[in-house]
Amino acid sequence: MPDAGHRDGAHSITLTNGTATRTREAAPDDLAPVQELHRRCSLRSRTLRYHAGKSGISPAEWRQLSNPERGTTLVTTPAERADHIIAMTNVMRTDQKGVGELAILVEDAWQSRGLGTALAEHAATVARREGHHTLTAAVTASNKPMLHVLERLDATPTNTTGPVLDLHIPL
Ligand SMILES: CC(C)(COP(=O)(O)OP(=O)(O)OC[C@H]1O[C@@H](n2cnc3c(N)ncnc32)[C@H](O)[C@@H]1OP(=O)(O)O)[C@@H](O)C(=O)NCCC(=O)NCCS
Repeated sequence: MPDAGHRDGAHSITLTNGTATRTREAAPDDLAPVQELHRRCSLRSRTLRYHAGKSGISPAEWRQLSNPERGTTLVTTPAERADHIIAMTNVMRTDQKGVGELAILVEDAWQSRGLGTALAEHAATVARREGHHTLTAAVTASNKPMLHVLERLDATPTNTTGPVLDLHIPL
């Protein structure tokens, strides 16, 4: 498991290969590096994240994702390259009070190093701090890495039919 901690207001995660990263709240100015993150991701990763073959996110979508009234979006960078976003984590409000929706996108080249697992744990902490009692996630049934990530958070599927599973994570 990677190490995690806090420094400079950002959340530090050290990956399994020893690389240090920082995770902080996203700002409106992050749109360009977030779009670059999407461009560097494979079509498969983007499709698993959005359940559609999106090439990126629009300025209007980013305004919503980076709007604190809509939820919390976190961005992760290597510790030594603060302008290079390698992952985006969303804990967005839903129409149910106390229930947030979790989604994570880790750039392909940074996957399988423990980042997704550590980000999900951090997202659960953030969600608890914001007063949520439950997180939900919509995960493609064949998405083994994300299902492994959520198993560690004791997620339970609420529907097990169809290509996309809805999972509930008690906080
Ligand atoms: C799902 C995702 C967030 C996981 O992030 P990650 O940094 O690769 O995750 P980790 O390195 O922490 O690995 C998580 C688990 O998946 C397993 N895993 C990693 N890569 C794998 C692969 N290619 N095949 C099968 N399992 C894999 C790991 O062994 C780990 O399982 P374990 O805890 O039982 O050992 C990342 O792969 C991603 O962004 N995918 C594309 C977008 C997406 O699917 N988002 C989720 C939709 S909400």
